[in-house]
Amino acid sequence: MNQESLIDWNERFLTGIPSIDAQHRALVNIINTLQVALSFGDARPILGGLFSHLQEYIESHFAYEANLLQNNAYPQTAEHLAEHYRFTAGVAALIEQYHQDPSVELAQKTKAHLLDWLVNHVLESDFAYAPFLKSCGVA
Ligand SMILES: [Fe+2]
Repeated sequence: MNQESLIDWNERFLTGIPSIDAQHRALVNIINTLQVALSFGDARPILGGLFSHLQEYIESHFAYEANLLQNNAYPQTAEHLAEHYRFTAGVAALIEQYHQDPSVELAQKTKAHLLDWLVNHVLESDFAYAPFLKSCGVA
């Protein structure tokens, strides 16, 4: 297995809000689980379980973030939640494809979707709200 392709959890992922960081770490674990399966050549056997885990994750993590943003009146709440909605729709489309044709390509597309989310949402949009929430006393 190519260890280099696994995401190494480190401080560059930390927003400084421990509950959020623990939840983001769970997402990195999901991505790494998929990567391990892909590196063995066929991720299809784990895809069903991965998608249900991912759906549970999305539901609880996004509800948690939405609550924090709304309760603290974060000015970019609407835009932030719109990103959550687009990501969720993308996952729903992948799950739909999984039910029609659980291919190796689908597993790769799923990994790409999750990695894009990690880089463009977690490290950008989530990092953007962190200083605001901390200034509101969220710890
Ligand atoms: Fe977010």
